Amino acid sequence: MNRRTAIKHLGGAASALLLTEALRGQAIPASQLAAATPPAPPTGPFTLPSLPYAYDALEPYFDAATMHLHHDKHHQAYVTNLNIAVAAHPELAGKTVDELVANLNIWPESARTAVRNQGGGHANHSFWWTTLGKAKADSAAAPSGELAKAIDTRFGSLSGFQDKLTAAALTVFGSGWAWMVKLPDGTLSIETTPSQESPLTLGHKPVLAVDVWEHAYYLKYQNRRADFIKAYFQVVNWDGVSGQFAQKA
Ligand SMILES: [Fe+2]
Repeated sequence: MNRRTAIKHLGGAASALLLTEALRGQAIPASQLAAATPPAPPTGPFTLPSLPYAYDALEPYFDAATMHLHHDKHHQAYVTNLNIAVAAHPELAGKTVDELVANLNIWPESARTAVRNQGGGHANHSFWWTTLGKAKADSAAAPSGELAKAIDTRFGSLSGFQDKLTAAALTVFGSGWAWMVKLPDGTLSIETTPSQESPLTLGHKPVLAVDVWEHAYYLKYQNRRADFIKAYFQVVNWDGVSGQFAQKA
């Protein structure tokens, strides 16, 4: 595991550090990857997926101006630059963005930085939008079922999980993400990744995430990342998170 692909584990099981198929340089087939980007085309040229809610749907926690900037400009830039990279590297064609990221270490060195940064940016944001939403009368305001059991087993309680994810998100130096992932053995773990690196590269299934790039919060929260993280917990789409948890690790 090189420096760029090292992921800091915070309380994860020791098994999480085992080398994955991807790290051994073997392709992970599409059938083992969650489809994180519907309804966008599964392979390139990639397009920006629409938000599954209105830009102001997460107010007052996530403001509409930030959502426009974040989705329309930042996410779009990752999509645009990923398409440029794929056009320049025919060996990347015909792959889903999750396949590109999960198999990062098998691509030619000349393509790897673009896949890591632009592919990761597209994959991470496409995932994130689907796990956000304000609780409605017909949706879950907290995890339930198997996900609730797994959180209680791993973190003691929902508040225990929130404390650990918050601590992880606050430790991200500069730009990056904090994640709850499902490990190959089915257990949950909290991880952080720098920049746009994805847990998929280590064979870990993203279940929930918080984007702690300043572009996610600076307009409304300026330098107050802790306030942004607190607000984030008000807009977790637990139905969406449960759906991610139910998918194969
Ligand atoms: Fe972002």
